[in-house]
Amino acid sequence: MFITFEGIDFSGKSTQIELLKDYLVEHNKKVEILREPGGTEISEKVRRILLDNKNEKMFAEAELLLFSASRAQLLREKIRPYLQKGIYVISDRFHDSSTAYQGYGRGIPLDAVMKVHQIAIGDTIPDVTFFIDIPVGIANERKKKKSKVKLDRIELADIEFYNRVRSGYLEIARQEERFKVIDGTQTIETIQNQIISELEIIDRR
Ligand code: ADP
Ligand code: TYD
Repeated sequence: MFITFEGIDFSGKSTQIELLKDYLVEHNKKVEILREPGGTEISEKVRRILLDNKNEKMFAEAELLLFSASRAQLLREKIRPYLQKGIYVISDRFHDSSTAYQGYGRGIPLDAVMKVHQIAIGDTIPDVTFFIDIPVGIANERKKKKSKVKLDRIELADIEFYNRVRSGYLEIARQEERFKVIDGTQTIETIQNQIISELEIIDRR
C-alpha cells in the first residue's frame, strides 16, 4: 500500500508518520518511510537547491519542475520497487504538495501541473492520502514555539500564500476520494486513531 501525508508546514505530518510506522511494524508489516523533496542521493541534492534561502529569485515554474524532478527519481529508484516487493510505503508529501503549493499557492495553471505529474509519476497514485488540516494561525503558533529552528525558503512565505495552499488541499479533497481530511487541531492520539481506523476500512475492502 502506498500512503501519503499532506498538509501545510507544522500540521503534524512527521509526528503521525512515526506513530503509523510503529503501528504497522507491530502488525508485522514491512514499512519504508520517505520524504519529499528528497529520499535518494539525487533527490537530496535537488532538495538543497529548493530549500536554499539564497535562491529567492526562483520562478514558480522552475520550482514545480525541480520538485517534480526529485519526485520522478524517488518514484523510480525507491517507491515502485518497494511497492512491487509488497512493502508499505509512507511518504511525507507527494504530488499533491505540488498541486497545492505550486498550483493553488503560486498560481501555476492546474492543467499544466497535471501534465507535469503525468511525466513525473504516471499512474503511481497513492492508495490513500491523509491531509492533516490545521488553520494557518495554529501553524504559525507552532512555528513560533520552534523559533530557534531556522525556517527554510518556502516556510518564510506569507500567510496569504499558506491560506491558498490550505484551500487548495480542501479543493483536492472535494475531487479525490483517496483524500482523507483529518482535523489536525485534535490531540495527537485522536488523530492517530482516526488514521488507523481509515486504514482498517481500506484494508477490509
Ligand atoms: P510537520 O511534519 O507537518 O511539519 P510535525 O509533526 O513536525 O509537523 O509537528 C509540528 C509541531 O507541532 C511539532 O512541534 C509537534 O510536536 C507539534 N504537534 C504535532 N501534532 C500536534 C497536535 N495534534 N497537537 C499539538 N501539537 C502538535
Ligand atoms: P520540508 O522541510 O520537508 O517541510 P515539512 O517538514 O513541512 O514537510 O520542506 C518541504 C517544503 O517544500 C515545504 O514547505 C513544502 C514545500 N513543497 C512544495 O512547495 N512543493 C512540493 O511539491 C513539495 C514536495 C514540497
